[in-house]
Amino acid sequence: MDADTIIQTVNLTKRYGKQVAVDDLNLSVKEGEIFGFLGPNGAGKTTTLLMLLGLSQPSEGSASLYGLDPLRKATEVKRLVGYLPENVGFYEDLDAIQSLEYVANLNGINKEEALGKIDKLLELVGLKNDARKKINAFSRGMRQRLGIAEVIIKDPKILFLDEPTLGLDPEGAIWFMDFIASLNRDRKITVLLSSHNLSQVQKISHRVGIMINGKMVADGSMESLAREKFGVGDKEYSLEEIYMEYFQEV
Ligand SMILES: Nc1ncnc2c1ncn2[C@@H]1O[C@H](COP(=O)(O)OP(=O)(O)O)[C@@H](O)[C@H]1O
Ligand SMILES: [Mg+2]
Repeated sequence: MDADTIIQTVNLTKRYGKQVAVDDLNLSVKEGEIFGFLGPNGAGKTTTLLMLLGLSQPSEGSASLYGLDPLRKATEVKRLVGYLPENVGFYEDLDAIQSLEYVANLNGINKEEALGKIDKLLELVGLKNDARKKINAFSRGMRQRLGIAEVIIKDPKILFLDEPTLGLDPEGAIWFMDFIASLNRDRKITVLLSSHNLSQVQKISHRVGIMINGKMVADGSMESLAREKFGVGDKEYSLEEIYMEYFQEV
């Protein structure tokens, strides 16, 4: 293992009865990378993230974050990792500031520090003018902006994002992915991103993995995957073309 590998799974496997959701997965992500985690619905992406978070127990194999076992070091892992699930739940009756205050408190941030952070975060995610609106009046795009603000309020070193642009309009999706790229660049946050938005993944990811039926069928830079599939050539392939090529083998 490289010294700078901070997310790792070794022979990670999850079975539900006879069904294998994650099949002998060996994944490694280096510090500072954006890793795009691709695959069709049911491929095993969410299950993998849940095992990395210690929220689901592997049937076999192991996961580690900064060398920590997420099942045994739950508190430390929770401090290091910000997780944006596919469907973020909010207290709908709160406004954006109240919701952020609540999350800050859960993370042990004192009230005074929280107020300063919340102000900056609302500005950063473009919700300053909606700060006193109740969440039940928020659009999907506003919810994702608030969701990511709540995730980064604790200054995580790693971000897990599960299909974060699903249901967003194109501008919302582009804003979100650009924002993630800026967090990676400016705050050196390592990102594991599951998404179907191939053009956006291509734009911001350093490496990608393609998961099909619980197995990682490809893993590497887009250039290396294109080379593997199409040979050396001067044509540049899109991630979509590469993805479909791997798909046809299954
Ligand atoms: N709690 C569960 N109980 C039974 N089967 C599950 C459970 N969670 C996921 N699965 C199954 O495991 C497979 C992988 O699911 P998931 O990890 O959600 O895939 P993805 O996130 O890539 O869409 C699917 O076939 C799904 O039906
Ligand atoms: Mg999923």
